[in-house]
Amino acid sequence: MKKWLPYLLPVLLPAGVILSCSGPGKRFNQPVTSALALDSTTLGISTVAEGLNVPWEICWGPDGHIWFTEQSGTVSKIDPVTGEKQLLLTIPEVYRHRSLGLLGMAVHPTEPYVYLDYTHRNPDSSIVSRLVRYTRGNDTLTDPKILLEFPGNTGHNGSRVIIGPDGKVYFSTGDAAHDEFAGDTAKLNGKVLRLNADGSVPADNPYPGNYMWSRGHRNIQGIAFTDNGQLFASEHGDATDDELNHIQKAAYYAWPHIEGFADRADEKAYADTFPFTPPVMAWTPTIAPAGIDYYNHPAIRDWQNTILLGTLKGASLHVIRLNDARDSVLDEKIYFTQQFGRIRDICVSPEGDIYLATSNRDWNPGKGFPIPADDRIIRLSPIRDAKGLTMLPGPAAAPATPVAKGPAIYKSYCEACHKADGKGVPGSFPALDQSKVVTGKPEALLNILLNGSKSSATEQMPAFQFLSDDDIAAVATHIRSSWGNKANAVAPEAVKSLRKPAK
Ligand code: HEC
Repeated sequence: MKKWLPYLLPVLLPAGVILSCSGPGKRFNQPVTSALALDSTTLGISTVAEGLNVPWEICWGPDGHIWFTEQSGTVSKIDPVTGEKQLLLTIPEVYRHRSLGLLGMAVHPTEPYVYLDYTHRNPDSSIVSRLVRYTRGNDTLTDPKILLEFPGNTGHNGSRVIIGPDGKVYFSTGDAAHDEFAGDTAKLNGKVLRLNADGSVPADNPYPGNYMWSRGHRNIQGIAFTDNGQLFASEHGDATDDELNHIQKAAYYAWPHIEGFADRADEKAYADTFPFTPPVMAWTPTIAPAGIDYYNHPAIRDWQNTILLGTLKGASLHVIRLNDARDSVLDEKIYFTQQFGRIRDICVSPEGDIYLATSNRDWNPGKGFPIPADDRIIRLSPIRDAKGLTMLPGPAAAPATPVAKGPAIYKSYCEACHKADGKGVPGSFPALDQSKVVTGKPEALLNILLNGSKSSATEQMPAFQFLSDDDIAAVATHIRSSWGNKANAVAPEAVKSLRKPAK
């Protein structure tokens, strides 16, 4: 996600380096296999690395290589020209399970440090998140120093780490499924934290002696600086409202009280008493946003001054155009839907090539994935001639054919967890295809849909209060009559009678 000091590169690189890389596909060993035509640029698509196991973080290293973490606990680098791969470090303390493992990484541009964050399981089975600093030598990472250790959980551990233009370490954390931690200034969870390179608290942080930079976050999955120093973060919402936030010093983002914009009556009332910073974008149905990077290179003029955002559930690349001040969003286009599967992270090379990391060997792959080559690092690089190449479709339009309501709601709100075939994910999301709750008395089913359920130790079923009576009845009817289930339909009136009276 991070670039190697993009603001300095034009000065650091001899002009010849930039000029020599105009030959379409020639400067790389890997063949260009397909292409995407934008208005003024054609992008060639090639696979730089395959057979990886959830490359969680990809970033441009000081040596012109792509540095990457894999979720099980390794740090490697790859030469983007030859595809040659080198393992740098294995961290045995990493606990990988579902969304947990070795996550973010940042290579400091001016200090000899690499920052890594991962989850660890203690002998008593409690889970912690750690931010660890390694000293970078000639292809070595040594002398690990734990800078922060704080509560983790079986989900919602974030996280990303990035070095700011001020040389400080910015580290985004998840709420560890304790939503009360997010607003609490005394807790490290649900925050963007800011540290000096040595791990101490910067003197100009908002609260003296406190790592907190911003608070009220649920589960940040992507973080990037623009060229004028604005910080953005992508964040997973609950059942609704994934967000893109413009992160500002001391700002409060109000999770769990406000999801997305303050558009519900209870959210408006809360915002009247507790001023909060709304997101610059929110997505309902959710897309599961992941890694982001800022793009402003003339190599791909169509995408200048944009945030590039990879999505997991959406399995796509969102290109989000910013205003000149880079503090609000002008528009959004969506590319590659379902083409490569889940996209976990993005990085941009000094030449303006874009690299995407797939995440199809994680715990929740989409239909048809992983393919044998997964996981991959894929390159998008301008080419002059797309003759003979498969052309990929342009940006996604709104769904053209209206689908029946029940299946559509299921697809938007339920399928990410319970899956298209209703079989769920063993150990995480229950199957609905032979569930007695689904086919039994409507009242119990509707109560779960309206109010959610937290009886499972690991995952929660979100509450769907925000859907209309019609929508809940439609999705309930759909799951009662799919995958071999044969229970009768549910009427909207049945939903209405179960809603809690307004406070
Ligand atoms: C974020 C993941 C997630 C989403 C999205 C989700 N669920 Fe669930 N669902 C769960 C989990 C986890 C449970 C188990 C909860 C528990 O045991 O407390 C569950 C339980 C259920 C159950 C009870 C099943 C049983 O046999 O006990 C039903 C029915 C159900 N969900 C239907 C739905 C429907 C319909 C939707 C969409 C409107 C939906 N879920 C969306 C995670 C999800």
